[in-house]
Amino acid sequence: MGVRELGLPERLTATGELPSRVTIWEVGPRDGLQNEAATVPVDVKLEFLDRLAGAGLTTLEATSFVHPKWVPQLADAEELLGRLDRRPGVRYPVLVPNERGLDRAVAAGVGHIAVFGSATETFAKRNLNTSVDGQFAMFEPVLARARAEGMEVRGYLSMCFGDPWEGVVSAEQVVRVGKRLLDLGCSQLSLGDTIGVATAGQVERLIDAFVAAGVGVDALAVHFHDTYGQALANTLAALRRGVSTVDSSAGGLGGCPYAESATGNLATEDLVWMLDGLGIEHGADLDALVATSTWMAQRLGRPSPSRVVKALAG
Ligand code: HMG
Ligand code: MG
Repeated sequence: MGVRELGLPERLTATGELPSRVTIWEVGPRDGLQNEAATVPVDVKLEFLDRLAGAGLTTLEATSFVHPKWVPQLADAEELLGRLDRRPGVRYPVLVPNERGLDRAVAAGVGHIAVFGSATETFAKRNLNTSVDGQFAMFEPVLARARAEGMEVRGYLSMCFGDPWEGVVSAEQVVRVGKRLLDLGCSQLSLGDTIGVATAGQVERLIDAFVAAGVGVDALAVHFHDTYGQALANTLAALRRGVSTVDSSAGGLGGCPYAESATGNLATEDLVWMLDGLGIEHGADLDALVATSTWMAQRLGRPSPSRVVKALAG
């Protein structure tokens, strides 16, 4: 008998305030596939997106309009979006670092973009070839034009907890840089633990620091990589602080090619298992997600690192 027939996970509400509904921001097609050693064929990417939409996910970060030499795995962004069968009720945001990226996104008919900044100088240089100030000079015209075109713009902030070159990153530094992204016009700020080193106390402290600086939790999302196995605990800490948008990647794919030691994102299936147990609505179908990640693992030639996929795929 499978665990699901045994009534698992048992649905119990945890103590403390928790949101009644969570928006899952699926980053597998972008964060997941940008880090693969081999480039995944566009037909496979399209089927992946279609399966994820079929599994009930309504925010699918599809690709990036970055320099193809920097991230060759996503060099097919134009072809992918040109052939994408956009499902009603599903949004397909893409990453855009600069005006050249925005030109490409506009030409591809994109309605929702995300700029991605760094809280630290070293990662700004390594990921965007600029400085912390320089990234804002790059984003400013992107935000101005994108918003004039009626696009929604999310802001990512990387290295919010620890940086492989600079060590622990202070909450003050992260709030200072994060507020600049919001002040520029980003509708949401996703706090990235790019290398997956954060622990729950740090997450609470950072969210509290944003709130103390006048940022509402409804403007915050969390983006945890799972290098040290803390992503789910960190997510629960953020939920208890009132955050209700959580980034995750089907099957736990992911990482950043410009951040040493970054591994996969929080697996969407692991997140869904926990949300189900807590009685928090999310709209996704766990069995369809597990089937999708099992299928994708076959395409990539290695098993999914997700514990829930391993447990349920059997
Ligand atoms: P650069 O080399 O400084 O670019 O790279 P440049 O502005 O000097 O331009 C050089 C050439 O690139 C020019 O062409 C530009 O037109 C071209 P030329 O005139 O020499 O023929 N170019 C472009 N071509 C296509 N698309 C573009 C583009 N921009 C310039 N958008 C740049 C600067 C930002 C482009 C580069 O650093 C880059 O592409 N970086 C992206 C790195 C990346 O994608 N990293 C992964 C995503 S971030 C992440 O994963 C973290 C996250 O998940 C959150 C977390 O986990 O923390 C979001
Ligand atoms: Mg990431």
